[in-house]
Amino acid sequence: MDLVTVTGLSKRYGGIVALSDATFSARAGEVHALLGENGAGKSTFIQILSGAVQHDAGAIMVDGRDYRPANPDGAQARGIAAVFQELSLIPDLTVEQNIWFRREPLTPLRTVRRAELRRRTLALLEKYDFPPLRPDQELRRLTLAERQIVEIAKGLAKEPRILILDEATSALPAREAEWLLKLTRQLAAEGRLVIFISHRMAEVRAIADRLTIFRNGRTVAAHEAGAVSDEEIVTQMIGRHLDRLYPERVATATDRIALKVTGLSSGSRLSGVDFALREGEVLGVGGLQGHGQRELFQALFGATRASGRLELWGKPASIGNPRQALTGRDGIALVPEDRRGQGLLLTKSVRENLTLSVIGRFSRRGFLSRQKEAELVREMVGFLRIKADTPEQAAGTLSGGNQQKVIFGKMLLTEARVLLLYDPTRGVDVGTKGEIFQLMRDLAAKGYAILFHSSDMPELVHVADRVLVMRNGRVAATLEGERISEAEILRAAMLQREAA
Ligand SMILES: Nc1ncnc2c1ncn2[C@@H]1O[C@H](COP(=O)(O)OP(=O)(O)OP(=O)(O)O)[C@@H](O)[C@H]1O
Ligand SMILES: [Mg+2]
Repeated sequence: MDLVTVTGLSKRYGGIVALSDATFSARAGEVHALLGENGAGKSTFIQILSGAVQHDAGAIMVDGRDYRPANPDGAQARGIAAVFQELSLIPDLTVEQNIWFRREPLTPLRTVRRAELRRRTLALLEKYDFPPLRPDQELRRLTLAERQIVEIAKGLAKEPRILILDEATSALPAREAEWLLKLTRQLAAEGRLVIFISHRMAEVRAIADRLTIFRNGRTVAAHEAGAVSDEEIVTQMIGRHLDRLYPERVATATDRIALKVTGLSSGSRLSGVDFALREGEVLGVGGLQGHGQRELFQALFGATRASGRLELWGKPASIGNPRQALTGRDGIALVPEDRRGQGLLLTKSVRENLTLSVIGRFSRRGFLSRQKEAELVREMVGFLRIKADTPEQAAGTLSGGNQQKVIFGKMLLTEARVLLLYDPTRGVDVGTKGEIFQLMRDLAAKGYAILFHSSDMPELVHVADRVLVMRNGRVAATLEGERISEAEILRAAMLQREAA
């Protein structure tokens, strides 16, 4: 018997239809993947199931009984917990305070029993074999990946019968992602239902028993995983045939050096990084997470204090502030890791976010320039297939993948020709991913120079011309040509680690 059955589920936000007559059913003991392109309604569906949002129409049955939670507590009472795509954690609280938020063990005087809180936290982390986390650390000090892991702990702490993971692997490095996939299978084996959302087909393939595909808020198909090909799934997701995900790798690098980095250091995370990025090149940055990749991007962009020498197009450049790094054709533009923290102004419109950093190009010329702005925005929205009701929709109300596209568009509009792309396709659906990769190659062919990090290693392997493998804050190896493979990247990163 099905554990969850959903019929006729609909949800609107003003004029925006997020879900329209969606159906869904899933059994206990299975991993059920929910697939669909950006803006298809997946997160909305999850928010309804977990009591964060109320639906307008439709019926949900859990265990054969009506289910309509008024809030997340109501969902929890029926054994349902979600790990949200946009994390729900509180920066000022510690890891353990976040995990047990509003569910802390209390004394009769209603103060928190600290030793018990610690004991429960350690027991939880051990039970599910969590990657290392310090219970007493303040959340604000953690990386995005670590915060994601805390969010997962918070979900599991509720010991739900139904656990929903909304792109929980998208911010995780390879090892941690693998841990989560394994854990997911284990939970299903215990008889729980895991509803799993991911834009990484390989992951879905590795763990899903069944899958349901949404498109434009509707259910277009449900399959046994073994009975359907990747190609069919993608076609059903995006409503058209996708020829290939990765573009042909045509070498377009010239001898001209766009960005030369010498002895770049920053705290204990980055020590003496040297490399040269050439005009027309896509230079990948790989290695095990936490070996300085993030700090490298931040330092180059001027968002973190660093020392060393930088040359842009043959001229010495100061490692200045981000605003300075942004301006002009000789500048540097960044797609940052944390899109909600660093990349977007959530309450501002799609238009404002896109043109924020280039506003000077429009503002002096009055009416005509307003028109030009509208035109550019329209082009960008069309080109990146940003799913927004109008360009005036607040960026914070876009689906996760569409927020990512706005950040990408914003960077393109700066006209900077040195691009720092940190996980630019995180949370982006396969259709648009392919377009972003193609765009990267096209930009390279036009003489742009691209530094590219991806937490999804196959992306590095298929898109980059060369790959710098980082270890302990240094460039440990540079892979080229045939040597660019997942195995080689891992080997370079691991061998070094043993030697260290
Ligand atoms: N609070 C809101 N206000 C207005 N529109 C919203 C709101 N929340 C979601 N939407 C819209 O509902 C639609 C579905 O969004 P949803 O987040 O469910 O997509 P998704 O399938 O999770 O996409 P992604 O893969 O990008 O995460 C989108 O068009 C989105 O803009
Ligand atoms: Mg989503």
